[in-house]
Amino acid sequence: MSKNKKSREFSSASYLGRYKVYAFFAPFCKGIETVCELFVPYIMALIIDVGIKNNDVNYIIWFGALMLALNLVGIIFSLLAQKFGAIAQTRIGRDIRNDIFEHINELSHAELDKFSTTTLLNRTVNDVRNIQAGIGSILRQITRAPCLLVGSLVMAICINLKLSLIFIVIIPLLILVIWWIMKQLKVLLINIKTKLDKTTNITRENLTGVRVVRAFNKQNYETEKFKYANYDLISTQIKHAKWNSILEPVISIIVNLAIIALFYFGGIEVNIGELTQGKLIAFIDYFGTISSCIVSLSNLITIVTRMHASSERINELFLVKNSIKDPSNPTKINPDDENNGKVEFKNVNFSYSETKNIITNLSLVANPGDIIGVIGGTGSGKSSIVNLIPRFYDTSSGEVLINDVNVKKYKVEDLRNMIGLVPQNPTLFEGSIRSNMCWRKPDATDEEIVKALKISQAYDFVKEYPDFLEHKVNRGGSNFSGGQRQRLTIARALVGNPSIIILDDASSALDFATDAKLRKAIRTYLAKSTTFIVTQRTNSIRDANKIIVIDNGNIIDIGSHDELLERCQIYQEIHNSQNKKEVK
Ligand SMILES: Nc1ncnc2c1ncn2[C@@H]1O[C@H](COP(=O)(O)OP(=O)(O)OP(=O)(O)O)[C@@H](O)[C@H]1O
Ligand SMILES: [Mg+2]
Repeated sequence: MSKNKKSREFSSASYLGRYKVYAFFAPFCKGIETVCELFVPYIMALIIDVGIKNNDVNYIIWFGALMLALNLVGIIFSLLAQKFGAIAQTRIGRDIRNDIFEHINELSHAELDKFSTTTLLNRTVNDVRNIQAGIGSILRQITRAPCLLVGSLVMAICINLKLSLIFIVIIPLLILVIWWIMKQLKVLLINIKTKLDKTTNITRENLTGVRVVRAFNKQNYETEKFKYANYDLISTQIKHAKWNSILEPVISIIVNLAIIALFYFGGIEVNIGELTQGKLIAFIDYFGTISSCIVSLSNLITIVTRMHASSERINELFLVKNSIKDPSNPTKINPDDENNGKVEFKNVNFSYSETKNIITNLSLVANPGDIIGVIGGTGSGKSSIVNLIPRFYDTSSGEVLINDVNVKKYKVEDLRNMIGLVPQNPTLFEGSIRSNMCWRKPDATDEEIVKALKISQAYDFVKEYPDFLEHKVNRGGSNFSGGQRQRLTIARALVGNPSIIILDDASSALDFATDAKLRKAIRTYLAKSTTFIVTQRTNSIRDANKIIVIDNGNIIDIGSHDELLERCQIYQEIHNSQNKKEVK
């Protein structure tokens, strides 16, 4: 992939393009509102200078009505602009979130490893929110603020050019003061964000690890840590609030001083007959509009800058492409093939990064119905081997073949459909036991589910629930014990008789007797399935056809339990350490 910094996959403008009509009509309506607003002070000047001066009630009523009508039209168009802007803004947010979610789901494990969960969450929630806010502000302000600013300036100059010279001093002064205060606020805002992240992290860590915290009596330590982070956050927030609170008074002082000056010089102009009283009031009104436009524009700049930064972060995510793709002409899997379920590793090498090889030169054939054990110390590469079968990762060199065809030649979905996988960390999803059991096969019948529950030795406890398969599963399966969770995840993988079963340390929370029953049931009911059992216990794989012994990425030996006990020193050591009676 090219690392070209300018390459773009994501741009807010392309999403805006999907809602052209709303994106056009929101600023258009705002523009009409602005024009209406611009004429109001001028009409007011006419009412004062002509209507009131000549005591012409009719004139006052007609022009008053015109002013009211303009206000009314302005309000209607303002409401329409809000509506169109809100529709575009929320739909764009929805589309970006959907696209990010879909993109993340398409990425393979290799790409997902590059991003932490927090960062993915932040990009899907906070960054999209910033973009949404940016688009909303742009749609509403892009015509309004500049039109009002230029329009008011032009109207003011038309009313009195000499008096307008005051703007040469006031406008740059206003811009300078706002820019300076905003700069302080921006720094504080970044600090607040970091400190808020810190407090959130402490809260999250404390909540997820609440049992550990209590077991180690660390509540006081955790509370102190939180208090400190919270105090730190609040003091920065107070600083931010202080700066924020002086922004308006400072602007107001400058504007009021300017108004005094305008009254003074305007008064002189009125006295010498160069300016009418009504026009002076209109002039001051336009000046008020100009100053509020400057504030609005500076806010807009801040929001757009934030939106741009968020857009960059989302673009970064979209630039990462899925390396595990479907082939153009995928091979169909034939479930009736007598070879169905055969797995072969041919001179496989694998690494997560260029620096360290994780699996070195693995060759192995597993025939349908075989049980293959994978054993080795922690971090030796056991999970890495089995993760190559469903193509969570691709080999660095060599081939993984299923039914004598390279896994890369199958459609990824077809390939994963033939595999029943129990990951090392059992995870269940919120819903019912049934909804979790239907993951591999959405139309699984009750008999199929019950069969899987029986094989996985989960039936005994599931049948005790009055609501049986409809029994509720909390998020992550937190309402089950570790062993129950593990048995349910095994059952989930077995529904629909997969041709290949992968149990990655799946029986670590099961007692020896249950573990043995599980293996016996797989042998009996899923006799045609090729089963990979990753484990740290030799007893779990003593009846396996072949056992891969791996140590630090090196394939030490492959053989049956008895063969390995005879010739493989590492296997003997593992076996003896687990079976020797301790001598005091
Ligand atoms: N996603 C990853 N990115 C980079 N390195 C990884 C990744 N997953 C694992 N590793 C590294 O690869 C090596 C093998 O890891 P693997 O998960 O295959 O070990 P394991 O034998 O399954 O260990 P355990 O028994 O603890 O589950 C380890 O050194 C680990 O640090
Ligand atoms: Mg592992």
